[in-house]
Amino acid sequence: MAQEALLAVDGVSVFYDRFRALADIDVAVGGGEIVSIIGANGAGKSTLLKAILGQAGRVEGRIWLAGEDIVGRTTAAIVALGVMLVPEGRRLFPSLTVEENLWLGWDVGRRGEFGFAELWQLFPQLAERKRQKAGSLSGGQQQMVALGRALLANPRLLLCDEISLGLAPIVIDELYALIPRIKERGVGIVVVEQDISRSLAIADRFYCLLEGRVVLAGRPGEVGRETVVQRYFGL
Ligand SMILES: Nc1ncnc2c1ncn2[C@@H]1O[C@H](COP(=O)(O)OP(=O)(O)OP(=O)(O)O)[C@@H](O)[C@H]1O
Ligand SMILES: [Mg+2]
Repeated sequence: MAQEALLAVDGVSVFYDRFRALADIDVAVGGGEIVSIIGANGAGKSTLLKAILGQAGRVEGRIWLAGEDIVGRTTAAIVALGVMLVPEGRRLFPSLTVEENLWLGWDVGRRGEFGFAELWQLFPQLAERKRQKAGSLSGGQQQMVALGRALLANPRLLLCDEISLGLAPIVIDELYALIPRIKERGVGIVVVEQDISRSLAIADRFYCLLEGRVVLAGRPGEVGRETVVQRYFGL
């Protein structure tokens, strides 16, 4: 898979000043595919997502989105091509209502088959709370708002950065159950996660990063857990 994939990160390095946070990375994502990126703190997972969105430091290499090289484009232009991020820490406006927060995704995005009717169906808990202030919701519900906001932009490629952070296991289960339903719509999904088991359980394919390099990649069923754990920690 290279330029014909939905996303092809092709020999990418990212520099913050003189520090190289990613070193010659290759990552591909197809439409309707769930790809997990795992790795310890500081491995470069968020940097990879930010580089795709044009928000990282200096990028070398090429990032192909549906055959177009998007390196050097503005974030607005990349979003317009159908890339959306669910950022680490959600970044909601707590004093705005659920519905107002969701409109922000609708406003920046593309028109498509995913609208408010589909959103309320996918997140019935939000439908009941659309006029509440986002800051009054539980952590899990806030994460649903962040996810819903991204979906309303009708992305072709959805980037999720540690959506489980700080949530109770039962709430994480609920969120993760939504991911395959998004995949069914043909969206390519990148899931960044520190939790190895959870990542591998949901992924079609995965990449393991260590200190800015891909140290292991494959399909979860084809690689032993022992191997994954060893590479994850660089043992
Ligand atoms: N804006 C920045 N300026 C300088 N260095 C940065 C910047 N952002 C990240 N880094 C460094 O780049 C490396 C990768 O960071 P990154 O945030 O991508 O890791 P991560 O895998 O997402 O980690 P975490 O699991 O903690 O979120 C780290 O060494 C980090 O300190
Ligand atoms: Mg991160």
